[in-house]
Order: sequence, then structure tokens, then C-alpha cells
Amino acid sequence: MKLAVVFGLIASVLEVAPLGHEHARQVARTQPEKFAAIEGLYASQNGAPVVLFAYPLTKPPELKASLEIPGVLSWLAFGDPNAPIKGINEFAADDIPPLWLTFVSFHNMVILGMYFILIMFVATWKVYRGTLWGNTKLLKTLLWSIPLPLLACQLGWIAAEVGRQPWIVYHLLRTSDATSITVSAGEILFSIILFGLIYLFLGSLYVFLLVKKVQHGPEPENAKEVFAS
Ligand code: HEM
Repeated sequence: MKLAVVFGLIASVLEVAPLGHEHARQVARTQPEKFAAIEGLYASQNGAPVVLFAYPLTKPPELKASLEIPGVLSWLAFGDPNAPIKGINEFAADDIPPLWLTFVSFHNMVILGMYFILIMFVATWKVYRGTLWGNTKLLKTLLWSIPLPLLACQLGWIAAEVGRQPWIVYHLLRTSDATSITVSAGEILFSIILFGLIYLFLGSLYVFLLVKKVQHGPEPENAKEVFAS
């Protein structure tokens, strides 16, 4: 646990800065439509805000009940709190991605990223103070948090893939023009089912081995001496 929580803290901080931040800067530079959609920037602005919470509506494109910090998005993306950022209103209607899903998946990934830093910081602090083992609530929270990084990865992937629609090759080839003339829908369905079964098998094996290991529990403290004698 000592190793795990310290590693968890370092990894969660690195995931947000520099990794997540660099990802966002790259998207701002190369895929402005996706950037506007994930950040919920529906009208162009100088000093664009970071949206902490909102409910996105597609028609008309707008955010409801939003909680924003002015200037922070411009600063994060271009290092200048007054930098102009293009909003969804600058792009043709058939060039923009689905707004609800990109916004919601991206923001929930970021929320999870923040949660990982918080929980790992608290756990590292408790390990340092030697009080982690008595804290059943925190131990249970850590246990139930195990699947969350996988969820964050899926959300990130949804934000990246849905956010680049309607393009399969950005600004060169539309997804609607990229259907194969040689591979049939039935063949694709067959591949998906086959891959699904393989991953279901691997996933079940992973959970089975994990549960077996956990049920077995750690070696007793004096295992080394018992083994040596
Ligand atoms: C503040 C926190 C975070 C920020 C700012 C951030 C930023 C981003 C951005 C902008 C993208 C889209 C990249 C693109 O379309 O090219 C992305 C994708 C992704 N993110 Fe995050 N992220 C954060 C936290 C996390 C966390 C905690 C995880 C997982 C533990 C994660 C995993 C992913 C994955 C797997 C993708 C998809 C990459 C791909 O398919 O190319 N992110 N992230």
C-alpha cells in the first residue's frame, strides 16, 4: 500500500500536468472544432473561461447552469489569459461534432483526474501519519476506486473519437465517405463480436485471478523465517 499510494499520487499528478494539459494544448492548436466542443465554448471569446460545471444543450448550442472561471481556458490553451478562442459558432453546422457527448465525456474525465489527485493525496498523507489502516472508510473508498481509471480512459477515448466527428481523417475525409466497398456490414459485426468475446474472456480472467489473489491474502509477517527454517 505504501508503494501503491505514493505511485498513485505521482501518476495522478502527472496525468493532469503535464500530460492532460499538453493533450488539451495540442487539440486547441490542431482541432479547434473539437476543442470548442469539449470545453463547451459555443461562442468565440477573448479571455475564454474554463467551464467547471454545466449542462450542454445542442439546439441552440448553449450551456445551462454553468459555473465558469473567466480567462483560464485562454491561459491554459495559449499561455495568455486574453487570447481569442474560436467557438462553435465559427464553424459550419455540418463540420461540428455532437456537442453533448463530447462535453460530458471530457468533463467527467477531468473530474475523475482531479478526484484521483485528491484521494491519493489523502491516502499518502494517512500512510505518512501511520493512520491509513484504522481508516476503514478510506480503505473502502480506495477499493471501490479501482475501476475508475479505466472509466476515465473510456471517457477520454469517447471525447477524442466523438470530438473528431464528422471527420475520419481531419478535414480530409468524412466518416460518411469512409465506408468500405469490399468489407460487408456482416463481416464487421462478426469481427466486433469476436473481439468482444476475446476481451470478455481476458476481462473475466483478470477479475478471477485478482479475486483469487485477494482471497489468498498477504503472506504472514514471519513467512520468510518459516520458509528459511
Ligand atoms: C485534468 C485532467 C485531464 C485533462 C486536461 C485531459 C485532457 C485530454 C484531452 C484534451 C483529450 C483529447 C485528446 C485528443 O482528442 O487528441 C484526452 C483524451 C484522453 N484522456 Fe484525458 N485528460 C485528463 C485526465 C485523464 C485521466 C485521469 C485519464 C485516465 C486515467 C485520461 C485518459 C485519456 C485517454 C485514454 C484519452 C484518449 C486518447 C486517445 O484516444 O487518443 N485523461 N484527455
